Amino acid sequence: MIERIVPAEAETAEAYGDLPEATLFPEEALLVKSAVAQRRGEFTTARHCARQALTRLGAPAGAILTGERGAPMWPEGVVGSITHCVGYRAAVVARPAHVAAIGVDAEPALPLPEGVLEAVALPDEQIAVKELLVTVPGVAWDRLLFSAKESVYKAWFPLTRRFLEFEEARLVFDPAGGTFTAQLLAGPARAGGRTLHTFDGRWLSDDGIVLTSVTVPA
Ligand SMILES: CC(C)(COP(=O)(O)OP(=O)(O)OC[C@H]1O[C@@H](n2cnc3c(N)ncnc32)[C@H](O)[C@@H]1OP(=O)(O)O)[C@@H](O)C(=O)NCCC(=O)NCCS
Repeated sequence: MIERIVPAEAETAEAYGDLPEATLFPEEALLVKSAVAQRRGEFTTARHCARQALTRLGAPAGAILTGERGAPMWPEGVVGSITHCVGYRAAVVARPAHVAAIGVDAEPALPLPEGVLEAVALPDEQIAVKELLVTVPGVAWDRLLFSAKESVYKAWFPLTRRFLEFEEARLVFDPAGGTFTAQLLAGPARAGGRTLHTFDGRWLSDDGIVLTSVTVPA
């Protein structure tokens, strides 16, 4: 599913649950040794997906440790992103010659719990989501907005090393085109000598999952 929303030069792997063959390197296992079984399972399968994707890219598929603010530490010459939610785990990797940064996020295609939309969406985003829920039914637009914001953050953080609050990006969806734009209200990001005031994203909703990506091209 994820390959439908990332650039052709990226490599991906995904799983619809935990895989018995997935294993961790000892230094990765230390990162989740006190975690609950569900967290260990999704971490392990997502690391397994990441190694499959790295192998397809021709990159070393060793231990992927966790860096600053939880960001995965990719091997030299690789950018990538990891996501997991109930029933889905995925990783995407690419070469910096093609992609400066990428973020992916999966969520169950269910309405957000009461009050969450108001906490994560700007007033105009809330209005747009409520309209889309009526005019384009069949998509959990509130959950999709949440996922898209998390994808924005996962692409933003490796470029800026700064946290980004939910109200610091304004998202606008193209419901027919499967795309969205994020206006960066916290200030621009810089990539490859360019100053970026917006990020471009893609989305899909299928098989009970909403999936979003943000790619900053090289
Ligand atoms: C980090 C965050 C985005 C993760 O999203 P999530 O839906 O909870 O979880 P997902 O399973 O989709 O993603 C988790 C993965 O994201 C990756 N990740 C975590 N922190 C990250 C960071 N700072 N930068 C890039 N990737 C990060 C990790 O690979 C993590 O998995 P792992 O711990 O198994 O390695 C979220 O917990 C968070 O902190 N959000 C607040 C910031 C935000 O989203 N702002 C919105 C700006 S518009």
